[in-house]
Amino acid sequence: MFKKFFCFIILLVFSNCNKIIDNTEDKSLRKYAKNSNILIGTAIESIQLEDIKFAETLKREFNYITPENSMKWGFIHSKRYEFDFDRADKIVDFALKNNMKVRGHTLIWHIENPEWLLKLENDTSVNFENILAYHIKTVVKHYKGKVYAWDVINEALEYNRYKETFWYKNIGEDYIEKALKWTHKEDPNAKLFINDNMIEEINPKSDFLYELVNNLLSKNVPLDGIGFQFHLKLNNSLDMESVEKNIKRFLELGLEINFTEVDIETEGELTEEKLEKQATIYKKLMILVKKYDKVTAFTTWGLSDKYSWIVREYDNKNPGLIFDEEFNPKLAYYKIKEILQLP
Ligand code: XIL
Repeated sequence: MFKKFFCFIILLVFSNCNKIIDNTEDKSLRKYAKNSNILIGTAIESIQLEDIKFAETLKREFNYITPENSMKWGFIHSKRYEFDFDRADKIVDFALKNNMKVRGHTLIWHIENPEWLLKLENDTSVNFENILAYHIKTVVKHYKGKVYAWDVINEALEYNRYKETFWYKNIGEDYIEKALKWTHKEDPNAKLFINDNMIEEINPKSDFLYELVNNLLSKNVPLDGIGFQFHLKLNNSLDMESVEKNIKRFLELGLEINFTEVDIETEGELTEEKLEKQATIYKKLMILVKKYDKVTAFTTWGLSDKYSWIVREYDNKNPGLIFDEEFNPKLAYYKIKEILQLP
């Protein structure tokens, strides 16, 4: 009798466990994010859409997409007088068809620029402002009404000063202000962002950015927000208090913040302990997104470890995204969902 009762209890618990799992999987990040007015995003390449598991997971879990590379100059404007929108169009079409928003990335970056552009450096007969304005005008016009937010400027700073990029050298520091104005003129409804790395905490770089955007805003330059990239390594832990203070000061300027490129790279063999540590960091980041209304988006730089740039470029098999190579959710997935679910 006791044995039967014991078995019954075990069965009951077990069947409930299954229910809990089913239930959780049924309720995607995307559904909870929508309830909390949060954009939950990831960076993708158009070719990945051909992977059925990838496309299914993307549709189910995310409501925000960043083209990982296909809007960068080297891909979209690889010939001087021609634009190639094919790959980026595929991504934008997929997003709109599936009710997702698009984060345009990026109109200006110092990397992945075409040969033809770099060759013009030092040519005094060239009007660099015209070239940049033409690029911005053409790309932004093509995606007018389709791209929700643009990373107009990407990684323009170096420690506590401007990075000496192609545009900085050829136009001067005003290239930032000009680019924002040209973008706004072409699509007044798109949200405009300055995106950068290592500006998450209060430090000389974020101080410099703070002064820069304060100055832009005082001149009424169109700017809606700052993208904090959050490319992290498990061992270099962030000072979350400093991150929160930093978030607050940018929000107080009336700006929005997006977490734009989150990944948490892990060195060496992947252990349970490392996965837990990684999940805790993801959770802490999501707590900040949830806490501040104007921290509006949380984007991971890649959907699954299968396609991460860290695997491709740094030959590290543990790039620390929230889905593994088989598209199984990792502990980090459940931790961020736990926070998204809160009322
Ligand atoms: C990376 C892509 O993921 C790679 O595939 C590409 O080879 C190089 O660029 N910061 C950024 C992103 O703003 O655009 C970068 O993306 C990663 C670092």
